[in-house]
Amino acid sequence: MFETTSNDGIIRSEKLLNAESAPPDIVDREREIHGIRDAVRPLTEQKAPENLLVYGPPGSGKTVCVDHVFDALENETRVRTVRINCWQYRTRPSLLTELLIQLGYPAPRKGKPVDSLLKIIGSWLDKNRCIAVALDEFDQLEDKAEIIYDFHMLSQSSENKVGQVLISNRPPGKIFLDSRSRSRLNCRSIEFKPYTVEELREILGDRVEKAFLPGAVQPEAVEQIAEEVAESGGDCRDALERLLQAGRQASKEDVQEVTPRFLEKIEG
Ligand SMILES: Nc1ncnc2c1ncn2[C@@H]1O[C@H](COP(=O)(O)OP(=O)(O)OP(=O)(O)O)[C@@H](O)[C@H]1O
Ligand SMILES: [Mg+2]
Repeated sequence: MFETTSNDGIIRSEKLLNAESAPPDIVDREREIHGIRDAVRPLTEQKAPENLLVYGPPGSGKTVCVDHVFDALENETRVRTVRINCWQYRTRPSLLTELLIQLGYPAPRKGKPVDSLLKIIGSWLDKNRCIAVALDEFDQLEDKAEIIYDFHMLSQSSENKVGQVLISNRPPGKIFLDSRSRSRLNCRSIEFKPYTVEELREILGDRVEKAFLPGAVQPEAVEQIAEEVAESGGDCRDALERLLQAGRQASKEDVQEVTPRFLEKIEG
């Protein structure tokens, strides 16, 4: 009943087309990646970096680029990286608890007060190394100003520093409502622009090459996805989803080549 059809189709690897998996390669974001790398670099010399805000629309590559730099920090330096999605941890106690769990502490059975969470993080810092924290979906955090201040104070009171990379859909002026938190944040920012037709063409071209059988996607189909997605906001996730759906449809119909015809069925 469930016998697989994956070997019959033109898709070699669905995983490589899935926007939730790490991309095989990041295309066209060197400037942004270097900006993130330079912002966190002081941590590698035990110096406090400026905080960084990475912002831009959905699917513009913010999370993958920060992940890429954090992987390198973790693997190539003594800096410890922690990545937290603020959708999941929206309050100060839940976020600080998650940070401790990622540092290797057992999950507490009862909620601990913020003060004692901060104390434990402080003593981890004193005993160990610098930490780079990425707060993804930062817009969703309820206690933004408090958390920024907490990390700032932790950094100030230890030899080992804490660097913050905040990831958001909104630009700086639209996130921090009160001016005190804004100045406290002392933030550098990097904007991720929506992908252009050329960039989408390149990203899709790379995926087509890696995820499909040779010659299985007509260049016209790639062109159409790139144009339509660039027009509607430049969201790379959307582009990959369209490519995947078209590939699945062609495989289902036992057709060896994805043509623009397969895109019509998945629009709207
Ligand atoms: N430059 C790129 N090269 C290759 N793939 C990319 C690139 N940018 C984005 N992608 C793909 O698009 C997907 C979505 O990117 P990402 O998760 O980084 O978007 P985002 O900007 O964080 O969006 P959101 O604001 O919705 O969180 C990634 O999983 C990746 O597969
Ligand atoms: Mg993201």
